[in-house]
Amino acid sequence: MSTRTASLEIVPSGKALGADVRGLDISRGISEETFQEILEAWYRHLVLRFRDQDITDQQLVEFALRFGSLHHAAGSEYGGKPEELHEAVELISNIVKNGKPIGALAAGEATWHTDMSMYEVPASATLLYGDEIPPSGGNTRFTNLCLAYDELDEELRSLVEGRRSIHDAAYLASGGVRPGYEAVTDKSQGPGARHPVVRTHPHSRRKALYLGRMGNGYIEGLSVEESDRVLEQLWAHMTQPRFIWEQEWRKGDLIVWDNRCVAHSRGAFDPEARRLMRRVTVMDA
Ligand code: OGA
Ligand code: MN
Repeated sequence: MSTRTASLEIVPSGKALGADVRGLDISRGISEETFQEILEAWYRHLVLRFRDQDITDQQLVEFALRFGSLHHAAGSEYGGKPEELHEAVELISNIVKNGKPIGALAAGEATWHTDMSMYEVPASATLLYGDEIPPSGGNTRFTNLCLAYDELDEELRSLVEGRRSIHDAAYLASGGVRPGYEAVTDKSQGPGARHPVVRTHPHSRRKALYLGRMGNGYIEGLSVEESDRVLEQLWAHMTQPRFIWEQEWRKGDLIVWDNRCVAHSRGAFDPEARRLMRRVTVMDA
């Protein structure tokens, strides 16, 4: 059922997470009172969608700043990045200019992950805005990791509670080795931040599973074989359809998700089609 606050209508997706926020034109600025309503809806639904927005880089950055300080955009490896792009904005795109991709992720599938978790200070919010959307494919899926934690079986829960895992930094989402890193031969010694496998959300106080990227990572204190087995079970559990909501993009959609309690993945799309998204990430601090 949708709820109406003083200025907004919040329409839940009907799935395990996700809601539309209606009645807001972000380009016109947001009052403190309205922003508090947005935050409350975000803590409740974990992913918010604002449709039919038409925003500049500056307006996207200003909205992101309401959620906290910004992560510095990586971006430097994408040689075709337009010079006029705001320094906090990254492009997620398969578009190639002068022989170089202008953004990250190309057109292939992006496996399940949470953003920036290879850093000591990972991302809380990610804001992703759709400028150009392919005719089909490229949907983004989100899974509710509070619910996944609540429904974890007792044996697995007691195995991971209180442990930390390595959020691998050596590999790119595409599977290749990140520039400046070496291939990992022993996962238990690999590079990347160590974070608790179960974390408590600072606002909702709900516990959530927190892992880096499917297929990577290592749970401290277990043998590599056992860690692989447990991580495989956790990801299989976390990505069951009952925990998931899938975003089918329209131009002008702005999505804000909470990496502290949500993992996401993206489907492949026709590499001949164009997909262009602008992204800003907020530091979890
Ligand atoms: C990201 C991401 C998915 C997408 O920007 O962090 O995973 O749908 N994007 O582009
Ligand atoms: Mn991501």
